Amino acid sequence: MSHSRCKTAILISGSGSNLQSFIDQVASGSIDLDICTVFSNNARAFGLERAKKAGIPTSCVDHTAFDSREAFDRATAAELDPYEPELLILAGFMRILSPWFVRHYEGRILNIHPALLPLYPGLNTHQRAIDAGDAQHGTTVHFVTEELDGGPCILQGRLAIRRGETAEQLNRRIQAIEHQIYPKAAQLVADGEITFRDGRAFRDGQPLTEPLLIDFPD
Ligand code: GAR
Repeated sequence: MSHSRCKTAILISGSGSNLQSFIDQVASGSIDLDICTVFSNNARAFGLERAKKAGIPTSCVDHTAFDSREAFDRATAAELDPYEPELLILAGFMRILSPWFVRHYEGRILNIHPALLPLYPGLNTHQRAIDAGDAQHGTTVHFVTEELDGGPCILQGRLAIRRGETAEQLNRRIQAIEHQIYPKAAQLVADGEITFRDGRAFRDGQPLTEPLLIDFPD
């Protein structure tokens, strides 16, 4: 990917505040992506309303109607592929992807995970960071591979956990960071500055051994 207006599909399951950030940043010219479609596994996801309001085509497939991950994923791809997406943005898409899906879009799927990966893959990341007494926490944009929350990291946003902060309070601050860093990371990939090859991330052709990091001071 090395051209502007990269055709980008965004996949959601819920509120879609990250989706909204992409929509707003495209509208303001901060990023230059073509959000060609928004897909959800949940017909009641508020993010679908956000997409419709922005005039973006939407589709929805209920995962509970399928008896295997791959069958659902093939139905998802059947909705996405007519748009010929060059980049897939998982924005609170709460489904584990089948190996088939990851290979079908190899190197073209990004996810945001609310932790400083490799710390805290999986769920309840904020509470786990608080319970561990961590001084810092954050969120990570990474390429998706077959390993859950395990693909090469691209960009992290980091903050200091406040004394006595609850998981809910932390989540609000982490989400505000996500809204800034996710579109930025997607643009780097769309522009070909960050690439994926053989399970690794590269920046300007050099292996990206550590993710890019932005510290957000209090
Ligand atoms: C985001 O905070 C994202 O980090 C998280 O879901 C939220 C979706 O919010 N994703 C995961 O936990 C993936 N493992 P949104 O629907 O308001 O964008």
